[in-house]
Amino acid sequence: MATTMPTIGCSINALSHRYGERRIFSGLELHIKPGQFVSVLGVSGAGKSTLLRLIAGLETPDAGSVRPIGQAVDGKITVRVMFQEDRLLPWWSVERNVLLGLDKHKRLSDARRLLAHVGLQGLESLWPAQLSGGQKQRVALARALIHQPDWLLLDEPFGALDALTRVTAQLLLERLWLESPRTVLLVTHDVEEALVLSDRVILLGNGEIAHDINISQPRPRHRSNHELAELKEALLNELVAVHQA
Ligand SMILES: Nc1ncnc2c1ncn2[C@@H]1O[C@H](COP(=O)(O)OP(=O)(O)OP(=O)(O)O)[C@@H](O)[C@H]1O
Ligand SMILES: [Mg+2]
Repeated sequence: MATTMPTIGCSINALSHRYGERRIFSGLELHIKPGQFVSVLGVSGAGKSTLLRLIAGLETPDAGSVRPIGQAVDGKITVRVMFQEDRLLPWWSVERNVLLGLDKHKRLSDARRLLAHVGLQGLESLWPAQLSGGQKQRVALARALIHQPDWLLLDEPFGALDALTRVTAQLLLERLWLESPRTVLLVTHDVEEALVLSDRVILLGNGEIAHDINISQPRPRHRSNHELAELKEALLNELVAVHQA
């Protein structure tokens, strides 16, 4: 499922946003290289989901801009968001859920191919209620990927999964990204998930980028790796410090 599409980066410039009296961002700058896999950490309420919504265009910033880096084939970029809850329509089959918003007849073969690619071959005609939590998130991932998004925005997509299912889902996401590089922004509370998957880990604190770390370890990464373990410790300490501030 390799793609020859150009990868498009993301440039966030002087982004400011507030809810009432609460300032979330004030002049935030973030530049994500085309095809880069970036994770965003931060304590609850740090503004991680708000940042994703602003990037996705689901909310309009008070000031500043979010722009593509690079030239899309048809001049416009495609953005897809995946959330912690699968958001599947319970009265639609798995394959129809993947086809949400697309011409059903034209794309049925694409949906089936993608479902097979995320390990759900043979489950296409089931209802979401007949799937496990991990399988539902795979459907949600297939539904995002069928649009071939330039930017894939993930808001704690594996947060509700048990530990083993979560690791399997992480490996799947990494494989899909390696096969078809695209710019990924993953919001997570799981420091290890961020370190194992990302090219770059950002820690949001007080509306600013408190830490911005490049991870150059070769893939596949081992969770027991000494350098990653040290980074995990440092980031966890930082998160605790921000939480207590
Ligand atoms: N629509 C809204 N109206 C008013 N305030 C909001 C709105 N959305 C978010 N907020 C506030 O903005 C702040 C940042 O929220 P956001 O959801 O971005 O945090 P988060 O980092 O994603 O947290 P979590 O880790 O708990 O998901 C919070 O204080 C939240 O209460
Ligand atoms: Mg959130």
